[in-house]
Amino acid sequence: MKHSLLEICYLIGSVTFILGLKMMGNAKSARKGNMIGAVGMTIAILGTIVLHEGEYNAITLGLIFGAIALGTVIGWMTAKKVQMTKMPELVSIFNGMGGACAALISLIELGHLYHHGNVNEYMHPPVGMMIAIVAGLIIGSISFSGSIIAFLKLNGTMNKPVRLPAYNIINTLVMVGVFGFGGYFVYSGGDMMLAYALFGAAIIYGILFTVPIGGADMPVVISLLNSFTGLAAAFGGFLYDNKVMLTGGILVGSAGTLLTLVMCKAMNRPLSNVIFGAFGGGGAAAAGPDVKGTIKDIQVSDLAVLMNYSKKVVIVPGYGLAVAQAQHIIKELENLLEERGVEVKYAIHPVAGRMPGHMNVLLAESNVSYDKLVEMDEINPEFEQTDVVLIVGANDVVNPAAKTDPSSPIYGMPILEVDKAKNVIVNKRSMNAGYAGIDNLLFYDPKCSMFFGDAKKALTELVAELKTM
Ligand code: TAP
Repeated sequence: MKHSLLEICYLIGSVTFILGLKMMGNAKSARKGNMIGAVGMTIAILGTIVLHEGEYNAITLGLIFGAIALGTVIGWMTAKKVQMTKMPELVSIFNGMGGACAALISLIELGHLYHHGNVNEYMHPPVGMMIAIVAGLIIGSISFSGSIIAFLKLNGTMNKPVRLPAYNIINTLVMVGVFGFGGYFVYSGGDMMLAYALFGAAIIYGILFTVPIGGADMPVVISLLNSFTGLAAAFGGFLYDNKVMLTGGILVGSAGTLLTLVMCKAMNRPLSNVIFGAFGGGGAAAAGPDVKGTIKDIQVSDLAVLMNYSKKVVIVPGYGLAVAQAQHIIKELENLLEERGVEVKYAIHPVAGRMPGHMNVLLAESNVSYDKLVEMDEINPEFEQTDVVLIVGANDVVNPAAKTDPSSPIYGMPILEVDKAKNVIVNKRSMNAGYAGIDNLLFYDPKCSMFFGDAKKALTELVAELKTM
């Protein structure tokens, strides 16, 4: 009876994960989807504790609920406090914890095998079980140490890629060595000393794998490490014959892999190019276009007049909008313009910002209507009929080099074709490059004017000026 009820809990957990994930594909239903997944996870956890075969003593129960309470408080407080721009950091540390759990489960299960006499010199543990344990141990450990390095890079503690001479060869050799060691472990049946050595070797590989990669490429790497954690958890599910762990692991694994590929495709870079570090965060400096021409800037009063008399304005948000936390003031600008009969839309590039859906989430915070957020393919044909494009803290996603300069590291990346609009205004603090580290010829276009300054401050001045008109 207990067992059947537990299976039902797991079924509910699995179905809610799938439903929740589906709902997270749309900004409108994402919050609800997250909630549904969390409820399913709670049912699965409580079911496991309450309906599990065998008795728990008071100490074990105290430890379980104490750990859950501690984890919940820390997780809740961190997630509540985190700034939107720090989200990739939070994801990386959470992901690292998932990898560590998977690795610890494997170590504990090996301990059980060896101590309960299932393994001795006469008997080899079932090969399938050993493969699941060892795979969980290796992949979980890589994910753990890789995510910690990713976290340190994103929070600026490690701000330079560390590259050993011939690091690609060294890393490949270490990877082959770790998986070879894992194969030997399965074959020989292993022992606890070997298990700790394998754990250490996989941790080292996770570090070696992540340190050479540029800090700005971390979102892609985190998504890849996320898929590793999912895979490691799925091995745990296989080991315990636990359907919800298996489904959850497979969903995280496949979603992480798809997200990694989607990001790479949107940047038009193969995954190998991200892993072996071509640009971003202090990698080899990417060659920029041969910059010729002059730039002109625009004063706030002139910009206010221009926008006030426009029929259609398209705002292009980018990473700088998130850094400046200018989402609320941009919404105020939208309201003001609309009151004056100006049509306002937002052009959303798939990799604007530093994480998937970054701009959507940011603008949702200030209650910008979802209908106003227009995806790249839909907005590109509209630029020709646009009077003013206002680019706020975006750079690479509007860089024409992606279309015109085959030597550019972003060549081939689809961009927002803002140069087709009648007027292009760029708000940023300086002429500094964006994530790809390259100059942007758009800024030298005769149609383009620079509106220099921190996005929040500059837009506040613009709004104040518009209010006087
Ligand atoms: P970027 O090309 O990185 O440009 C951001 C610009 O914002 C910078 O040039 C910076 O110029 C400006 N800025 C920074 N702080 C500002 C502030 N307080 N006020 C105003 N401007 C500020 O951003 P993007 O156009 O959004 O492109 C995203 C890039 O990230 C792409 O290359 C993409 O491939 C990459 N990437 C994205 C993702 C995802 S999933 N979104 C993942 C990995 C990589 P100043 O310093 O002069 O102000």
